Amino acid sequence: MISNSVFLKACRREPTDYTPVWLMRQAGRYLREYRAIREKASFLAMCKNPDLAAEVTLQPIKLIGMDAAIIFADILLPLEPMGIKLEFSQGEGPIIHNPIQKEVDIEGLRIIEPDEDVPFVLEAIKKVVKELNSTIPLIGFAGGPFTLASYCIEGGHSQNFIKTKQFMYHNPKYWHLFMEKLSTVVTRYLNAQIAAGAQAIQVFDSWVGCLSPHDYARFVLPHAQKVFQGLTNDVPAIHFATGAADLLELMKAAGGDIIGVDWRIELGNAWKRLGYNVGIQGNLDPVTLLAPTAMIKERVKKILQSAENRPGHIFNLGHGILPQTPVKNVVALINMVHDLSKR
Ligand code: CP3
Repeated sequence: MISNSVFLKACRREPTDYTPVWLMRQAGRYLREYRAIREKASFLAMCKNPDLAAEVTLQPIKLIGMDAAIIFADILLPLEPMGIKLEFSQGEGPIIHNPIQKEVDIEGLRIIEPDEDVPFVLEAIKKVVKELNSTIPLIGFAGGPFTLASYCIEGGHSQNFIKTKQFMYHNPKYWHLFMEKLSTVVTRYLNAQIAAGAQAIQVFDSWVGCLSPHDYARFVLPHAQKVFQGLTNDVPAIHFATGAADLLELMKAAGGDIIGVDWRIELGNAWKRLGYNVGIQGNLDPVTLLAPTAMIKERVKKILQSAENRPGHIFNLGHGILPQTPVKNVVALINMVHDLSKR
């Protein structure tokens, strides 16, 4: 039964024979087989084609053997049907052509119906779940409301989130309206993915680490909380952010069965602070996969040691895998985690 998979057991903090591992961005450019498909289709076209999305989702599972699959999609996809004009440019990442600047921009945003507005993601999930045939679980995902708001306001990726914070400070009323709309969309989108068959979900609030704990508590937490409380089915939820070492307790208060942490905090230390009534995911620096094998092994050991064989650790990188990562190092990593964590 899929509910007895190592990954889902670890999500429930039940003992497992070894520590499960998957990698953020595991379906991506470090794989030759991904690049071959990507040569013929744009990133958005791949996301919107359920056959291609299902195929690349399964590539790392078939080629490498992680303990969970994550659906190939992007956190920015549900923004398009809300009225955001989205483009992924080669080399520059996402660009938003009509960034949110004024109150009317927020008033004009649509609340999406996932079945009609992002049917391709749900279709891809159904295909993958069918193909996986209960061998390993599939993770669905969405962006956290703050991270999505930051892309909408900045118009793309940002170093310092100045425009986002400026909007938040100057116009709290509209900020909260914007966050309410985004959290409603994210909740619906996640529930649709769960209904389509996703057996766990992850919320990527990747950039909340730019906020002070005070601002997080005031401007983000209530909305993030609404997302976790709004999940209809009882599937495990992972709550992930980067650079958020001092927000951990607040992220836990917002919700999630597992908190995802990056390498800027020692994993054992993070878990101790969070308390052992939540699981933890992480936290190898993705750049470690460009290091010599002996060093990768040393770092994997360190992370496993700091988790102390406690049930509820899911091994992952602290952020997405880099495109220049050698595949052989990824294979070695997965084997190391499995071997070194054998109970
Ligand atoms: O993890 C997986 O394998 C599932 C697929 C996935 C993608 N993006 C595919 C992708 C997931 C979970 C994401 C999440 C995502 N997308 C986040 C949160 C995680 C994080 O990295 O902080 C964010 C912020 C985005 C937005 C986004 N999408 C950016 C900033 C970029 C450009 C940067 C880059 O890596 O090129 C993307 C593009 C993107 N999303 C690619 C992939 C495989 C590369 C597209 C390509 O093939 O050119």
